[in-house]
Amino acid sequence: KMIYYITPTYPRPEQVPELTRLAHTLMHVPRIHWIVADDQPICSDLVSSVLKRTGLPYTHISSPKPFIYKSSNFPRGVANRRVALNWLQEHVTEGVLYFGDDDNTVDLQLFDELRNTKKVSMFPVGLIGDYGVSSPIVKEGKVVGFFDSWPAARTFPVDMAGFAVNIGFLKETANMPFIAGHEEDRFLVSLDLQIDDIEPLADNCTKILVWHTKTVKHKKPTLKININKLGSISKYENF
Ligand code: UGA
Ligand code: MN
Repeated sequence: KMIYYITPTYPRPEQVPELTRLAHTLMHVPRIHWIVADDQPICSDLVSSVLKRTGLPYTHISSPKPFIYKSSNFPRGVANRRVALNWLQEHVTEGVLYFGDDDNTVDLQLFDELRNTKKVSMFPVGLIGDYGVSSPIVKEGKVVGFFDSWPAARTFPVDMAGFAVNIGFLKETANMPFIAGHEEDRFLVSLDLQIDDIEPLADNCTKILVWHTKTVKHKKPTLKININKLGSISKYENF
């Protein structure tokens, strides 16, 4: 089965390094189709140039966040993930969907495991919240609850990178709301997922195979670089 890996991304100085590192992981994965969902009115050339060089099958699609979300605390990566989801629903009938942020770190073994997802599989995610891990709780091979430092009255308190979905199980009603912190839960609820349907991976959720890594934000340089003297650093103009 093919894996469809949906990655939302947006322009900032860390974008190309993040995508480069992720690309170099994905280049080791057989039968993967990378859907890169750009938070831009049109697909960025810079992202495109990274994608082309991977040799991977990919779809580069864009949908910017609505204007009202351009300040402070907003749901990140929703408009673009939604358009990627629509593309998938229109073009693909078979395979497995997995959402991964452009800054996450994934063990190659996870791709081997989630490829066999029948409905929805779940697994621990490292470096999340106060507990340092967010994970389903498994008893006798079944998911019976969730260990997450931010339950927030969620039915499925999991991280976006903590589950994969068989595309055959994607309902027409599948959707993701513009509500910060509730995107993944509401998405899973929109699939009409029941706790008994969940397939635990990673040795009954005892291993961490994906991490919610975060890159320290680059500080704006205080010195102006003389671009002419250094030759063509043309890519800088994007920032
Ligand atoms: C966490 C979750 O891992 C995200 O899946 C979730 O969307 C987010 O919280 C949220 O609820 O807001 P976190 O590491 O805190 O993610 O946030 P970022 O990594 O900054 O953003 C998540 C994803 O959205 C990234 O792939 C990022 O490139 C993308 N994003 C971020 C955009 O597409 N547009 C933005 O303006 C900001
Ligand atoms: Mn992140």
